[in-house]
Amino acid sequence: MTVHVVILAAGQGTRMKSARPKVLHDLAGRPLIEHVLRTVDELDAASTTLVAGHGADEVRAALAGRSNIQYVVQSPQLGTGHALLQTETVLGKKKGTVLLLYGDVPLLEAGTLRRLLEAHHTSRAMATVLTAEFDDPYGYGRVLRDEQGRVARIVEERDASADERLVREVNSGIYCFALSPLFEALGHLAADNAQGEYYLTDLVAAYRRRHMDVGALRLDSPNELRGINSREDLADVARVLRGRKNRALMLAGVTLEDPATTFIDDAVTVGRDTIIGPGVTLQGRTTVGAGCRIHPGSRVSDASIGDGVTILDGSIVLDSQVGAGASVGPYAHLRPGSVLGAGSRVGNFVELKKTTLGAGSKANHLSYLGDAAIGEGVNVGAGTITCNYDGEQKHRTVIEDGAFIGSDAALVAPVTIGRGAYVAAGSTITEDVPAEGLGVARGRQVNKAGWARERRAKNRKKS
Ligand code: UD1
Ligand code: CA
Repeated sequence: MTVHVVILAAGQGTRMKSARPKVLHDLAGRPLIEHVLRTVDELDAASTTLVAGHGADEVRAALAGRSNIQYVVQSPQLGTGHALLQTETVLGKKKGTVLLLYGDVPLLEAGTLRRLLEAHHTSRAMATVLTAEFDDPYGYGRVLRDEQGRVARIVEERDASADERLVREVNSGIYCFALSPLFEALGHLAADNAQGEYYLTDLVAAYRRRHMDVGALRLDSPNELRGINSREDLADVARVLRGRKNRALMLAGVTLEDPATTFIDDAVTVGRDTIIGPGVTLQGRTTVGAGCRIHPGSRVSDASIGDGVTILDGSIVLDSQVGAGASVGPYAHLRPGSVLGAGSRVGNFVELKKTTLGAGSKANHLSYLGDAAIGEGVNVGAGTITCNYDGEQKHRTVIEDGAFIGSDAALVAPVTIGRGAYVAAGSTITEDVPAEGLGVARGRQVNKAGWARERRAKNRKKS
């Protein structure tokens, strides 16, 4: 059987109240439409056509990485029936089955679509619609059946009578259509309804009038069919996806101390026996190794975290790598391009940017390390700052293996601290420090004996 997938995504998504096309809104770390496309990837479709309209250029740009999609632009957008009719240019001469999907129905699973295709093919119906019973069917088209229980027509919420609104079987908007009668029938749809649109749903009654069979596959669980129309829907569906992801991770041996407040994007991987505290967010392409501990309130985005890493409370790790056994935080900030070696430590209120910290090196307190290459076994004292910016350009700091940077040092880049060298606390280092040497750059201390006593005596006399 030849299956041509069509995805409708031209609508404005008025109810989102957004400048961005609805199908590009983020859901669990991916644009809405990506969820649908990933499901389609699992099917063996002959072609995939996306009907774009509102924000068509943005949608195409966002999907530039997917070369096998053909685009059809629907402008103006005159309804779902009109949208499907636009694909006649690419599918008009094709044979087989159209599987119609919506860009805003992201929870659908490939297995369900396979069942729909199978039901469609075995029944030899001209159209088969995917339906389910919703406890709260508000907003969806209702499936009305005849005395024999066959699908007679679909009525939209706005066009439904009070009685029809009581029907809880809803139209998912997902269908299979035999290609042969499709485009001719679509061409005859009328727009005589509350919205003045060409409703695809009217095709059902039109087929029945012509004595063509319309089948239905009714799902037991309605969750998969949820469409995203509003920000509230987006949040609800995100919660469903999070639940799926969290369950999968727990089944695979990850402890989530409070799944309800744990936000893990779909593509994230986490190794066994890692323990994740409440309020943790793992985003994008993040990978976390085995036996890690991520404490409450941390966010890790597009980062690779090795095995046995500890991330203490309130830390932010962005587009960085953390080596095995390293420790980060509390309240550390690894900005993009940071690379922590095995067993290294980045502590309280330390910020790194485009900086590598070698194996076993430590920067435990209150530092800014930017554009720096720091070797192995280095101790970066509390309050150390790399002065990497001269107001115009960024410059690099190099700290070689085994160096010791005293507290409150300012390293004015470009500068190199040689292997095993010391920098005295409180120094402002503007010149390279040679290997095994000591750099001191601060005023020499003068002690004035009895000075305090004399000052107090003087003040007492005055008053
Ligand atoms: C539609 C169905 C409704 C079903 C619901 C399921 C119709 C008339 N109604 O209603 O029975 O219960 O989906 O979610 O089909 N689109 C276009 N071009 C257009 C209009 C819409 O491409 O001119 C696309 C949208 O981008 C969206 C999809 O079609 O992906 C559905 O459109 P939407 O306006 O959300 O339809 P609903 O009112 O939800
Ligand atoms: Ca919708």
